[in-house]
Amino acid sequence: MAATSLPLLSFLLLVLSLRAADAQTPSAPAPGPAGPINITAILEKNGQYTTLIRLLNTTQIGTQLTNQLNSSTEGLTLLAPTDNAFNTLPSGSLNNLDNQQQVQLILYHVLPKFYTLSNLLLVSNPVRTQATGEDGVWGLNFTGQGNQVNVSSGLVQTPINNALRQDFPLAVYQVDKVLLPEELFGVKPPSSAPAAPAGKAPATKENSTTVAADGPSPPNNAASGGRAAFGLIAGLGLACVGLLA
Ligand SMILES: *[C@@H]1O[C@H](CO)[C@@H](O)[C@H](O)[C@H]1NC(C)=O
Ligand SMILES: *[C@@H]1O[C@H](CO)[C@@H](O)[C@H](O)[C@H]1NC(C)=O
Ligand SMILES: *[C@@H]1O[C@H](CO)[C@@H](O)[C@H](O)[C@H]1NC(C)=O
Ligand SMILES: *[C@@H]1O[C@H](CO)[C@@H](O)[C@H](O)[C@H]1NC(C)=O
Ligand SMILES: *[C@@H]1O[C@H](CO)[C@@H](O)[C@H](O)[C@H]1NC(C)=O
Ligand SMILES: *[C@@H]1O[C@H](CO)[C@@H](O)[C@H](O)[C@H]1NC(C)=O
Repeated sequence: MAATSLPLLSFLLLVLSLRAADAQTPSAPAPGPAGPINITAILEKNGQYTTLIRLLNTTQIGTQLTNQLNSSTEGLTLLAPTDNAFNTLPSGSLNNLDNQQQVQLILYHVLPKFYTLSNLLLVSNPVRTQATGEDGVWGLNFTGQGNQVNVSSGLVQTPINNALRQDFPLAVYQVDKVLLPEELFGVKPPSSAPAAPAGKAPATKENSTTVAADGPSPPNNAASGGRAAFGLIAGLGLACVGLLA
């Protein structure tokens, strides 16, 4: 008995000390400050985003972004069009969009990653947004010169002037134009209209247009992974002890 218990004991001590060392190494980076970030409050403080605030509410994207900020390790960037930007759109632009398209338009102003202005000067284009359509993820192009960053949708180009917030996990930048995606406002490619029966709206969009619902939810299995590894090592150790005994 003593012959088997001594190696077993020392082995267990070894495993325990390894595990203690493991527990001390910091694992995933801790998410931002406690308490949800209130996007509405950030926009409200600046007084010129009532249309965007209303759209974030009616499309429920505001809630979605709040949840995403709470779980995302990448953070978010919001390009916030001013009321003036919405007011200078051709009349009807917004009302001609159905709910799904309004969601796409707003998500086109959201980047699923936190970018500082200097990050945006250096990104490789196109940068993915949270808007998706039949043709996949819709992108924006960023070009910079000196300290000036421009964003382009292909149809609209505008400078990014003002950072309302630039602290991880959320960046909010003012844009003075609504970024109109070509996919919604561009000339329709001929392939999308294959002799639709007259008088009937093409119903092809229903299935394939999807909304990128939420960001990656970070797996919470680091601890259980550790336990599994511990069990495996302990099992192997016991097997070795059994062979030696
Ligand atoms: C966010 O801020 C707005 C305006 O300050 C407020 O009306 C709203 O209740 C806040 N939402 C949350 C979840 O705290
Ligand atoms: C948001 O929308 C809800 C209904 O969906 C409405 O009751 C509420 O007043 C709206 N809040 C704001 C700030 O517009
Ligand atoms: C944020 O996430 C944590 C768990 O990941 C949850 O307990 C908390 O309620 C969430 N907070 C909000 C405001 O959703
Ligand atoms: C940014 O856009 C403005 C017009 O809006 C243009 O005059 C300027 O050259 C652009 N700058 C860059 C770096 O693309
Ligand atoms: C971005 O730039 C690329 C290369 O110049 C171009 O092909 C693409 O259409 C641009 N996309 C947008 C959204 O401006
Ligand atoms: C949508 O998908 C369903 C099955 O998933 C299919 O029966 C239907 O024909 C599709 N509709 C369109 C417009 O593609």
